[in-house]
Amino acid sequence: MSPPSAQFPIRRMRRLRRTAALRRLVQETHIAPTQLIWPLFVAHGEGLRRPVASLPGVAQLSVDQLVKDAERAASLGLGGIILFGIPATKDGTGSEAYDDQGIVQQAIRAVKRAVPDLLVIGDVCLCEYTDHGHCGVIRDGDVDNDSSVYLLGKTAVMQARAGVDLVAPSDMMDGRVAGIRKALDAGGFSHVPIMSYAAKFASAFYGPFREAAGSTPQFGDRQSYQMAVSNGDEAMKEIQLDLDEGADIVMVKPAGPCLDLIRRAKERFGSPLGAYQVSGEYAMIKAAAERGMLDETRAMWESVTAIRRAGADIILTYFAPVLAEEL
Ligand code: PBG
Repeated sequence: MSPPSAQFPIRRMRRLRRTAALRRLVQETHIAPTQLIWPLFVAHGEGLRRPVASLPGVAQLSVDQLVKDAERAASLGLGGIILFGIPATKDGTGSEAYDDQGIVQQAIRAVKRAVPDLLVIGDVCLCEYTDHGHCGVIRDGDVDNDSSVYLLGKTAVMQARAGVDLVAPSDMMDGRVAGIRKALDAGGFSHVPIMSYAAKFASAFYGPFREAAGSTPQFGDRQSYQMAVSNGDEAMKEIQLDLDEGADIVMVKPAGPCLDLIRRAKERFGSPLGAYQVSGEYAMIKAAAERGMLDETRAMWESVTAIRRAGADIILTYFAPVLAEEL
């Protein structure tokens, strides 16, 4: 970009800020509903819409209620929904994640039946399904990489069988994109794309999600698989590896605290890039607004516009339906 050639008083930046019409004319960053993905939580039961205390406006939904929200997502023209499951029972290996009758598989079938054109994304991870709350299986006190990758591949195949449009692994095991790609291809699902949570940090901002999904680790934390917040070059390496392994879309998470990495990834890789405005980012705005500390609508737009301006093509956010309503 060349610097403005003229100086004050020839150049007056305020000229283009004077009226709403002028400001609209020079608006650089735009958001379309098709770029927004709405995260939804599905649980067993019927007629269930159980509010999540730490995420105002978000609820655990039974499949019948989820279908209603899916219909709303379709009528708002959202890019899609991403599903997280709350299983009936948890165990050491997260069996419900890859059970044909698992809650997410049931939900995918019901949504694809009711709203076939809506893009349905399956989050692929074990943490909601394991009794210890980690994203893989435990061996010798740590999450065992390769056996976890095997189960993640199985989970992706079961979701694909149920009719999912796109799978999104969020576990941060090494080689999971390659493992999932191989499993999908062997299962006859070479057409199902992978959106990997490629650069996913061990973030405090996932706190409210863990209440929503009941996935708080029962011992330790996720630092042996999720990335350290301090490491940006490593994030680029993670993204490169996922692309090399066959990821079709890569994601940075959390979004707001990683705007620099969204920008770097967009400039460096040029492939479709997602960013997840996570539960804590949403909850902070909600909580501050509830206490009258800031204007919720303006804070929502500012936070999401910043993510888009940084370079995200796709934004996962709990604000998705409210944003789309205003567009
Ligand atoms: C599962 C998963 C998490 C989130 C998305 N997928 C939680 C975690 O890794 O602890 C967080 C989403 C959010 O906070 O909104 N691995």
